[in-house]
Amino acid sequence: MSFMSAMTDKKPIAVLDTGVGGLSVVAALRKLAPGEHIHYFADTAHLPYGLKSPELIKFLGFRAARTLVELAKPKILVIACHTISVWCLEKLSQELDIPVVGMLQPSIEGLKKLVAKHSYEQLGIISTKATLSSQAFRSAWEYISPANATQLQELACGPLVSLVEEGACSPQEMHIILNGLLPQAIKSVDALLIGCTHFSALVPALKQILKSSAHIIDAADLVTQHVINKLKEDTKLELDKNGSIQTYVSDNPERFLQVAPKFTAESMKIELIRLKETLR
Ligand code: DGL
Repeated sequence: MSFMSAMTDKKPIAVLDTGVGGLSVVAALRKLAPGEHIHYFADTAHLPYGLKSPELIKFLGFRAARTLVELAKPKILVIACHTISVWCLEKLSQELDIPVVGMLQPSIEGLKKLVAKHSYEQLGIISTKATLSSQAFRSAWEYISPANATQLQELACGPLVSLVEEGACSPQEMHIILNGLLPQAIKSVDALLIGCTHFSALVPALKQILKSSAHIIDAADLVTQHVINKLKEDTKLELDKNGSIQTYVSDNPERFLQVAPKFTAESMKIELIRLKETLR
């Protein structure tokens, strides 16, 4: 093997979500690492996960992750879904013999730096009910803001996942819905973490609703940077420019392809996958 070929790895990056939301991570990866082949699985037959019980999220999340790894034979698995990350990451990391990156750890590391730099008084997180009920962000709070100088405002807005999946709202309609839905405590934060990958699609509307000085921190960007750093460290970043996106969905590929352009303008191959029924 030549020195150059030892510096890269042509195996794909596997990216998992319940629907279109994880395409926010895919889009960021394609920009920063255009040579990478991405295999994306969206469990569209079973979303939204964010209103389900931890037991069902674990069953669905493990099955989806194992299916994707079997199909893609990737060099790394990125769980581009906060809900699956908080409930499934630990076991998947133990079980799989590749690195598994979730949304939580890079978000917490990124938040710690930003909170230290900007000394926010109020930081908000919008996420799904299942992500917030895991208490993952609350438990990390002592680490993020050791003197408790920054107050955390959490808001579960799971129904917005389905609105994004529908892809039916115009930016103006989304603005009206968000304006009615978000309480003043969230509208007036100094920074807002996008704690559900579907909500990256809401950033333009959120910019108009939050105060103009507010920082919108998209966890998808923090996670993407973490993945790139990890691949560089492991000398596995693919350096040429001819990457691609292969998508698998468990239901309705036509609908997925209609909504995907809200996240990425790139074309992608798509395949419908029938999931195994068995509980493992
Ligand atoms: N994109 C998922 C997340 O980040 C959405 C979860 C759902 O399906 O409710 O949590």
